[in-house]
Amino acid sequence: NGVIIDGMTFPPRQPCGVPWKEHIENLRSLELRRTDVFICAYPKAGTHWLWEVTHMLLTGKVEYETRTKENLMMEFITKETIDNLDSPRIMNTHVPFSMLPVKEMKEKGVKVLHVYRNPKDTVVSMYFHFRQVFPHLKDYSLLDFLRIFLQDDMVYGNYFCFIKQMEAFIQQNPDVPVFQLSYEAMRKENQVQHVQRLAKFLEVEASEDLCERITEACSFQKMKQADQSKTLPSEISSHTMTKDTKMYRKGEVGDWKNYLTVAMNEMMDGAIQEKLPGSSYTLQYT
Ligand code: A3P
Repeated sequence: NGVIIDGMTFPPRQPCGVPWKEHIENLRSLELRRTDVFICAYPKAGTHWLWEVTHMLLTGKVEYETRTKENLMMEFITKETIDNLDSPRIMNTHVPFSMLPVKEMKEKGVKVLHVYRNPKDTVVSMYFHFRQVFPHLKDYSLLDFLRIFLQDDMVYGNYFCFIKQMEAFIQQNPDVPVFQLSYEAMRKENQVQHVQRLAKFLEVEASEDLCERITEACSFQKMKQADQSKTLPSEISSHTMTKDTKMYRKGEVGDWKNYLTVAMNEMMDGAIQEKLPGSSYTLQYT
């Protein structure tokens, strides 16, 4: 019973109180600043990590954002709140580019960050998260949830559609600077190098020592600890998160092997073959 806008399903309730249709129109007509940075990613791809690292690089300080990421998601806060955020703003969202002020993004030359994760770990991560916040999913098995995940009307959009629209956006807008990183690379390869590459992309001065300290502060364990001291505004708490929602679950690559049965894995492989043929994204599963 979600609200469908341009083919994308949103939960019935809009946390900021503005009806979804009006809110999406507001997002499309946002006035941007040259210093804005967009994080555009499908849920559970590692956006908390990217958001915190970006925040530290832009401030030049190894200090966590005092607000939670959910406080600042573009789809959950009013246009006025977005307009009143201090620069440089990290515009963090799961909505597709068709709902964003693309013309302004190009004119202002804003930077876009995209983190992506393999769909098998994504569905497992999402299953555990969504069951905490959508009461009707409590009795769903992972197989039930996988079936929903593979449908086009999945809440907050379909994984494959998101990847495809990102690919199309990059092809059609070669002048927009886009930084891309997979969750798997971020977890398995030299993390400091990713932080350094991001600093370069953001055009911020960041010494090796700063990048090393940011990497350390943004490790899974450190961020999990830091999260406990953050607060959620009441309007968000009852929506995608509650005080007890466990956002930092395992942070592993390949955890899907502990949950997907052979049949579920085949369903997913079939969907990947059918929906992402010839994709430029190389998805890593282990
Ligand atoms: P799991 O549920 O597999 O543990 P997002 O940040 O986009 O909401 O994604 C959440 C996923 O990223 C969760 O995955 C979470 O544990 C993991 N995660 C959060 N912070 C992380 C960090 N600092 N390093 C690695 N993984 C992190």
